[in-house]
Amino acid sequence: MGSKYAFARATAVGTVTITFVLMLCLTSSFVLGKNAVPNHEHPTPSPDLYTWLDTLGATVHLVVGPVNEAGLRGTVATKDIASGELILQIPNSATIDVGDYSLPGAELAVHLFRRQLTDPKWNASFEPYWKSLPESGSLHSKEVFENPKHRELLQNEYLAAYAEVNANWTRDVFAGNASLEPGKMFPSLLAEKLSGADKVTFEEFKHAASLTATYSFVFPNKEGQYMRVMLPLFDLINHKGEGANSYVGKDSTTGSYHLIASKDIKEGEEVTHCYNWDNERNDYALINYFFFQTLDPPRLCALDLPDGNLDGGFTEPDDRYLPHEKGAIQELISQFEARLTTFPTTEEEDEKMLAKEGSKLDWISHRIIDFRRERKRVIRLTIERLREREKTAYSLLPPSTGADASKEEL
Ligand SMILES: *[C@@H]1O[C@H](CO)[C@@H](O)[C@H](O)[C@H]1NC(C)=O
Ligand SMILES: *[C@@H]1O[C@H](CO)[C@@H](O)[C@H](O)[C@H]1NC(C)=O
Ligand SMILES: *[C@@H]1O[C@H](CO)[C@@H](O)[C@H](O)[C@H]1NC(C)=O
Repeated sequence: MGSKYAFARATAVGTVTITFVLMLCLTSSFVLGKNAVPNHEHPTPSPDLYTWLDTLGATVHLVVGPVNEAGLRGTVATKDIASGELILQIPNSATIDVGDYSLPGAELAVHLFRRQLTDPKWNASFEPYWKSLPESGSLHSKEVFENPKHRELLQNEYLAAYAEVNANWTRDVFAGNASLEPGKMFPSLLAEKLSGADKVTFEEFKHAASLTATYSFVFPNKEGQYMRVMLPLFDLINHKGEGANSYVGKDSTTGSYHLIASKDIKEGEEVTHCYNWDNERNDYALINYFFFQTLDPPRLCALDLPDGNLDGGFTEPDDRYLPHEKGAIQELISQFEARLTTFPTTEEEDEKMLAKEGSKLDWISHRIIDFRRERKRVIRLTIERLREREKTAYSLLPPSTGADASKEEL
């Protein structure tokens, strides 16, 4: 496990032009990206949000609402939009810089509370935005992964430890005994005698840490420093890797933020963009943003890839990482088979658990069990795929046709 810095790392790549900054859905092992994740359980925001944005000079060609049969929340276009056209524009005055992009959510939360408490008028003016965000208890991420029972359900020691370190960090920044930078711990707000700081509860603080980490985007400010920015409405757009139809950019002259169509979009069609490609790996997406996807073709968790790790960067399709040589394929098949036997429950047992006790489970447990079921399913499908590949794979060993051949080999 790396330092806290690595844990809080943002990913994906930004391309800077003179007047316009595009956040492209490319990845490298480092740099920046869109890190917001909509909370699918949260109801649609009240009309106040649109009115407030309109007053500030926003342009809005999408609306928040259900985007599938199951009632998943997302955003849909309110008119036909051609590729290259603007879908959404919000001025800088409707956005919030919450701190350096490399800081963990806890430090960003201190930043946010400082601003709110220092300028209550400003905070009050943002009420429509605060109301559009998920309420405490309906958001989950590594910053608040404090329940050992939930971590246990992950069925993976590394993921559980990663979650625990991050949750501990949030607790310690609040208590005032850990921080990447002095002055970033919560008690500094008490020392500054900011009115209302003493009323902030740990529950509120944790929620803010999770929000600032998961509902923020990374962009350079005027000084070229990469900052995490909270962007109303943008943060309610769902992630899609392949097939996303828009991208986010910043106009560096006006400081406003834009969502541009990367394809023709029909009225009523869902608008999606790629937060970053690392989210195509379900373990990464779950621990950082608490969502996962069922992809076709499926993708292994980052931790299940040969040499995989949670730091991301495993962004291309699995074939890029899976072997082609017969011996290596066979070895990987046996590793995957062994892995499937080490989980305390099987894919079928997880499925049964969700079907039988699903309604009794709290939503966090439900999603974690669903995640690990999907993880096992993908390993199983990958074994099947490797078996197919094995049939026609080349072999590095020369064909040993008899005793002479094997002697020669020695
Ligand atoms: C900011 O304003 C909201 C109301 O919109 C309020 O609920 C919240 O307590 C305020 N935050 C702080 C830290 O004062
Ligand atoms: C988290 O904090 C608890 C309580 O202080 C401690 O026992 C545990 O070792 C910490 N976990 C990690 C992974 O650092
Ligand atoms: C901070 O304090 C808590 C509670 O006293 C303790 O569990 C934790 O290990 C401390 N963290 C650090 C980094 O010292």
